Amino acid sequence: MILENIEIIDILQDGRGVGKKDGKVYFIEGGSYGEICNIELLEEKKNFTLAKKTKTLQKSKDYREPPCPYYYECGGCSIMDISYDRQIKLKQNLIKNALNKTAGIDLDNIKIIKSKDFGYRNKIRLKVGDNGDLAYKKKSSDDLVYIKDCLLANDHIRANFDNIQALSRDITEAMGHILSQISIRSNGKEILLNLYSDEVDKVYDYLKTKDLAYKINILGKNKTLRLGEDHLFFTYKDKTFKVSRDDFYQVNDYQIQNLYGLAKEFLGEDKKLLDLFCGSGTSSIAINGDHLVGVEINKSAIVDAKENARINNLTDYKFIAKNAKYIDQKFIKKEQIHAVTLDPPRAGIDKEIIKTLAKTKIPQIIYISCNPQTQARDIKRFQKEGYALEKIKAVDMFPQTMHVETIALIQKM
Ligand SMILES: C[S@@+](CC[C@H](N)C(=O)[O-])C[C@H]1O[C@@H](n2cnc3c(N)ncnc32)[C@H](O)[C@@H]1O
Repeated sequence: MILENIEIIDILQDGRGVGKKDGKVYFIEGGSYGEICNIELLEEKKNFTLAKKTKTLQKSKDYREPPCPYYYECGGCSIMDISYDRQIKLKQNLIKNALNKTAGIDLDNIKIIKSKDFGYRNKIRLKVGDNGDLAYKKKSSDDLVYIKDCLLANDHIRANFDNIQALSRDITEAMGHILSQISIRSNGKEILLNLYSDEVDKVYDYLKTKDLAYKINILGKNKTLRLGEDHLFFTYKDKTFKVSRDDFYQVNDYQIQNLYGLAKEFLGEDKKLLDLFCGSGTSSIAINGDHLVGVEINKSAIVDAKENARINNLTDYKFIAKNAKYIDQKFIKKEQIHAVTLDPPRAGIDKEIIKTLAKTKIPQIIYISCNPQTQARDIKRFQKEGYALEKIKAVDMFPQTMHVETIALIQKM
C-alpha cells in the first residue's frame, strides 16, 4: 500500500526517516529530513509501521547534493544529503529525546562541538569482494557497494586507497577470495592494515617475500601473523600513544582534542581517576596525565596501556585486564579513587557497575558515550542510586551519519 504526501519530520539513529499521518508513525527507509514523499508500507508493528520511500515530491529546504557518488547506495553514511547545520540540529534532538523519554530530563540547546565534516576518519573498514575489490555494505542489506574512494577517510588513507585495493586484488588473483575484510588505519604518516582471512598462513607466505609499503596484520579466527610492526603511534599534545591492531582509538582526528578537553573540564585537577573501559589508556592519560587505575577486558590493550604509561612517564598507575563489572567496592576504597570515567561500547554499562559505584559513594562520574540511548538508560539508573546529571555536552565525531559522542558529568547528590 502507498501513502502519499508524508513529511519526514525526524531521523532515527540508524538513519531512517520518521513520518506521521492520522496519528500513526512511520519509520521510512530512504527518507531524507524535511522532504515530502510517497511511501510504501511494509510491516505494521505495535507502535509504528515500517515503510520505504517510493518517490520524493518536494525536496527539503536543507537538501544539498551529496558529494559522494555512492551515497544513495552505501550503508556508511545516512544524512549526507542534508546541510551540516541541520545534521547538528538533528543530533541535538536525538540526544534531547533520549534524555527526555528515558531519563525524564528536559534539556534544550545541548551544545554539540562541530567537526570538519569530511576527511576526518583515521580508520575505515571495508569488505573484500570476489575479485579483491573493496566495498562497503549497501544500505539495509548485506550486498556490497564497490567504492574507489571514501570521503570520510583522511587524506592519507584516500591517497593510498588505490594501492591498497591493488594489493587486495593481487592477493585475490593469486589465491582466490581469501580475504573477507580489510581495515585501514592511518596516523597521517604510516598505515596499518588488518587483513581478515581464514587462511592466515597462506596470505602470510604470499606476502612475506613482497616489498610492502604498509605494516600488515593478518587476522584469522585463532591465529594472527604480522609483517612489520603490529601497531602505530599517535600523538596527542605532548603525549604519544601506541595503538595496536585491535585497540580502540577515537576515529575522528579533529575532535579528539575537543572530546578530551571537555572531559578534563568536567573532571578538574588533582584527582585519582578510575577509568573503567580504558582501552590502551589513551583517553585517561590524555585527560588526567597521571594517577590512574585503568580496567579493560582486552588483554592486549592492557599491555599497550602499560607501555603508554611508560612512554608518557607516568609515576602512579595500574592497568588491569578484567571485566569492569568485577571491580568491587573494596578495590575502589583501597585505591582511594576520587572520580571515574566510563567510556563503554555502544551497549552501555552493566547495572552492577552502577550499583558498585553508588555503594562506594564516588562523587564524580564522567560518562563518554557513542550511544545517547544507552547513556540515557544508564543516567536513569544512576539517578535511582542518588546521582544527578550535572552537565551534558556533545562532540560530533561522526559527521554524515546520525552517530554522535556525548559526554556527561554525573554527580552524587
Ligand atoms: C569505546 S572504547 C573506549 C576505550 C578508551 N577509553 C579510549 O578512548 O581509547 C570501549 C572499551 O571498552 C572495552 N570493554 C568492552 N567491554 C568491557 C567490559 N565488560 N569490561 C571492561 N572493558 C570492556 C573495549 O575493549 C574497548 O577498549
